[in-house]
Amino acid sequence: MSNTKIAPSLLASDFGNLQRDVEMVNESAADWHHIDIMDGVFVPNISFGMPVLQAIQKHATKTLDVHLMIVDPDRYIKTFADLGADILTVHYEACTHLHRSLQAIKAEGMKAGVALNPHTNVNVLEDTINDIDVVCIMSVNPGFGGQSFIENTYDKVKALKELIIKKGAKTLIEIDGGVTSKNAAALTEAGADVLVAGSFVFKSENPIETIKELKSIAG
Ligand code: DX5
Ligand code: ZN
Repeated sequence: MSNTKIAPSLLASDFGNLQRDVEMVNESAADWHHIDIMDGVFVPNISFGMPVLQAIQKHATKTLDVHLMIVDPDRYIKTFADLGADILTVHYEACTHLHRSLQAIKAEGMKAGVALNPHTNVNVLEDTINDIDVVCIMSVNPGFGGQSFIENTYDKVKALKELIIKKGAKTLIEIDGGVTSKNAAALTEAGADVLVAGSFVFKSENPIETIKELKSIAG
């Protein structure tokens, strides 16, 4: 497998130097900007909202991968489209009518993503997988950066890959949480297409080099 995408998570960036950090990602080997929106209800933390996304969008030159950790995401689908999101990911656990949410995201011209909490089995996507552009497998409990990687993720990636193949879907598999140079190769080997990395990139001495390193390890 080659061409794994790297998506640095701006949650771990220096918000006082947000433009600088967005431009660093622009200039790096990264593929996407991963943007974590938290509401303090779906997850026990609040990150940032629309005005900050607008500021990011002004400087970002790569795909905007927006991960909504919020209840009732349907309320904001149009807002995020207007803010320039290219991919909009909602949580399976936050959507009573997931199929409808996916259609609404696509109707706004965005790619549709679904994130799964660590406790959610990939089989719940059996009937929607052909409508999903990206499945984001949470490899930590959502809400915070810098947590350690949950090892059961490998089995989930393999099971999801099987489901995608069985259904003839074109869905990408994204891994979010605790990604480092230690697990990147094993994750792509298991079937991951996109690796999100927050702290590992932004807390490193040379983020540009760290992104390059992740990209080459992931293959
Ligand atoms: C967690 C977020 C992640 C987070 C990843 O709720 O969805 O995107 O920023 O951060 P690290 O790579 O530090 O685990
Ligand atoms: Zn995320």
